[in-house]
Amino acid sequence: MTLGSELIFTAGEHQTNLEVFEKTRARYRLALSQAMAQEKDKTVQKHRSRGKLLARERVMQLLDPGTALLELSPLSGFEIYPDVRAGAGIVTGIGQVSGRLCMIVANDATVKGGTYFPLTVKKHLRAQEIALENALPCIYLVDSGGAFLPLQDQVFPDRDHFGRIFYNQAQLSARGIPQIAVVLGSCTAGGAYVPAMCDETVIVRGQGTIFLGGPPLVKAATGVDVSAEELGGAEVHCKISGVSDYLAENDLDALEITRRIVANFGEMHPAYSLPSEPTQPLYPASDISALIPANPKHPFPMREVLARIIDASQLDEFKAEYGKTIICGFTQIMGQTVGIIANDGILFSESALKAAHFIQLCDRRQIPLLFVQNISGFMVGKEYEHGGIAKDGAKLVNAVSCARVPKLTLIVAGSFGAGNYGMAGRAFQPRFLFTWPNAQIGVMGATQAASVLSEVRREALKAKAEQYSEKDLTAYSREIEKQYLSQSHALYATARLWDDGIIEPEQTRQTLGLALNICRQTPRSLTNHDYGIFRM
Ligand code: COA
Repeated sequence: MTLGSELIFTAGEHQTNLEVFEKTRARYRLALSQAMAQEKDKTVQKHRSRGKLLARERVMQLLDPGTALLELSPLSGFEIYPDVRAGAGIVTGIGQVSGRLCMIVANDATVKGGTYFPLTVKKHLRAQEIALENALPCIYLVDSGGAFLPLQDQVFPDRDHFGRIFYNQAQLSARGIPQIAVVLGSCTAGGAYVPAMCDETVIVRGQGTIFLGGPPLVKAATGVDVSAEELGGAEVHCKISGVSDYLAENDLDALEITRRIVANFGEMHPAYSLPSEPTQPLYPASDISALIPANPKHPFPMREVLARIIDASQLDEFKAEYGKTIICGFTQIMGQTVGIIANDGILFSESALKAAHFIQLCDRRQIPLLFVQNISGFMVGKEYEHGGIAKDGAKLVNAVSCARVPKLTLIVAGSFGAGNYGMAGRAFQPRFLFTWPNAQIGVMGATQAASVLSEVRREALKAKAEQYSEKDLTAYSREIEKQYLSQSHALYATARLWDDGIIEPEQTRQTLGLALNICRQTPRSLTNHDYGIFRM
């Protein structure tokens, strides 16, 4: 069925929507441009004076000419570490190298020597997770002083800390996924395992060094003076230790050698069915910013939005007349078939059952799933609890968790409470999760949280027979509301890597198309498990 548009732009509502959205977009764009603008930093000049390219320049040089990078979480660390630019000192993204889609992980040596903050580790691990799930070869562009030592308790000892990078390297390798290290600067201490655990390693003469303990440590431990070059320079590792395989003269040479290495990877995995020729949506994506309600409490026109993203605005809806607060249907995005599950209101038992059924259909047919979230949660109240909404919601959560096909999640507005679970939130391991600049995510909305917590406080004070004033309770409630509003903001979320990045509505179709293409790289046998019990 073709999704028709009944939209007539109004000077009132749509104009207000547009103005509010443009403010949100401007804040996001400013944060992004500040994260990208490096040239003013003194460290950048020092880096360049050594004849080195910047991290993003290295990545772009590696890619096939004219192809784009799907950069992941460029705003990680935003407003978290004092004096540290957003990005957490590492650039990650997926791009085409010698015709192959690869995951690229590049240290940014201009940020505290490319050392690993907690979110740097998280971002590196996320990139490896995406590579593992999508069978993407990994290319590590190494230029790092290893762990950020002042925060060692947050980057070294725990399961998902620095050591996990090497554990993941072994897991990727065991699954036959190629990994290449390109050592363009320091590669110190534990970091030395990055090249050592790769299939093939390139190192730049006079610039790259690899050692478990640097010269100061050697001096302290053994009393011997040794230069970095003598200890673990490019010549040492290519001619004596064998830790590296290719000797490059500079960054450009190293990246060219890497492109040759990728060209020699051999046969690619057989992909899912090939995409058909994409047809443009019938309505322009440029309309979308005026469609996003300025007031998040107003209804979100989900079908109008989908009509501006999917091929030919064509959605073959499943159970269109049942469980109407969720839209399920088969469609194509950039020529690739996908099953869409999109919220069009609060979740009821019927909508949860319908979506669980639809997930099973897509799973059987090997059709990837796209969850489009704008969800305030499941319906509450006695009638619904008695009707067993918990067990019906559980069926959806079960189906979402165990579906074997690739899942993508896009948060176009709210993502609250258990609705986030049923709609493939981060915990349910979608292969990619993107948000729009206006997205909000939290256990509940700010107003609800403020009223729940004020009520809890009021009851607690009453139980202790303590005096309380309404004025104090109102002030407390305002404080909670402020905290929730700030913590559910899209920038707050992306800074902490709760998603793979913010995208703008106009970029959505292209980004989802690329993500679906990446998902198709995975051989079917990599996704092999069954469903849990559905409580009926
Ligand atoms: N932890 C915390 N901060 C570190 C660091 C580390 N491991 N390594 C470097 N830094 C900081 C420096 O203090 C400096 O901070 P500043 O900009 O606030 O002054 C910044 O990173 C750049 O370091 P600098 O030495 O000036 O740059 P460089 O390009 O000449 O050298 C390194 C970079 C990484 C080669 C060098 O700093 C080094 O060898 N660091 C120690 C590495 C190490 O032993 N790591 C062990 C990890 S287990």
